[in-house]
Amino acid sequence: MPLSKLNPVYIAGTGSYLPEKILSNAELEKMVDTSDEWIVSRTGIKARRIAAEHESTSDMASIAAQRALDDAGITAEEVDLIIVGTITPDMSFPATACYVQQKLGAHNAVAYDISAACSGFLYAMNIATAQIGAGLIKNALIIGAEKLSSILDWTDRNTCVLFGDGAGAAVLRPGNESTGRVHATRIGTDGRQTGILKVPNSGTATLDPEVQPVEGNATGTIYMAGREVFRHAVTAMKESALGVIADAGWKTEDVARVIPHQANLRIIDAIRERLNLPKERMFVNLDKYGNTSAAAIAIALDEANKTKSIVRGDKVVLVVFGAGLTWAAAAVEW
Ligand code: ACO
Repeated sequence: MPLSKLNPVYIAGTGSYLPEKILSNAELEKMVDTSDEWIVSRTGIKARRIAAEHESTSDMASIAAQRALDDAGITAEEVDLIIVGTITPDMSFPATACYVQQKLGAHNAVAYDISAACSGFLYAMNIATAQIGAGLIKNALIIGAEKLSSILDWTDRNTCVLFGDGAGAAVLRPGNESTGRVHATRIGTDGRQTGILKVPNSGTATLDPEVQPVEGNATGTIYMAGREVFRHAVTAMKESALGVIADAGWKTEDVARVIPHQANLRIIDAIRERLNLPKERMFVNLDKYGNTSAAAIAIALDEANKTKSIVRGDKVVLVVFGAGLTWAAAAVEW
């Protein structure tokens, strides 16, 4: 969606939170039949963070959100909308966003969650940008937060090596600021691919033959057909990145930095090749954190911002895919 018909919207601040506990590949070698060599060569992941038992998704989300508010220089009372993208909510209801509202004291905000798996943060950006751009609200807090360690089968080497916990957030505001301007966002879904990435037996559909437990998989944990997901991820991310670049009126070669979903370095490389961009234009931090689903792009955006990997005037493309399948992209001038 080109945003030229809406009022301008910009990213006023970012924040993130990573739990203290680091789980290295060497430690995983003691838990399942895997090796550091296999994990690094197939995924690029060297370590991931694991939340403490008492640490909930909303705890992590609230810390990341407060950091984003501080960065934006606004108070919690000024927030009109809180959206949390998550597939690991504190509980099935109330929404994790309601707990975030409570923990921040953001009592003037409407708060709800969206379930778009890894694409949750950019879905939230799309919704918030449209609401601010239409003049319905002023300040939005968008958050991606996950405690994926709670839905992993720690005996399944196919999945447990890939994921981690964490949270990231951004504040969106109306205005024609020269930094952080959101020029375009796109979101998409293909419900025909629900079967290739899911958490069987985690909801009401347990009698559906499509969601019977997969042999060897603990119930209520992530099932993934890795190669299928890989294939769809590359196509979806390439197309949505090119889509927002065109919507923004940019040329691909002018993009200073792509912040892609942090799932697998080989997927990132495949997209880079298809966009014909040099390696240094891709922002990568999955070696430290693994795939944190909806939090991944938000954490990466904050890290890129705080480490000055993106600087004022840079044309930045954020692009993601996730279960559903879902995908999303945004073009932001930093
Ligand atoms: N350690 C050692 N061996 C392993 C491991 C492991 N951790 N995991 C799988 N293997 C084995 C497999 O059992 C298989 O053995 P076999 O040939 O004897 O059957 C072999 O390694 C090769 O498996 P492949 O599936 O072919 O490996 P591939 O190269 O495809 O890599 C991977 C697997 C990393 C999962 C890859 O397919 C991938 O990254 N897919 C996309 C995943 C992804 O991005 N998911 C995002 C989820 S997003 C969300 O919404 C939650």
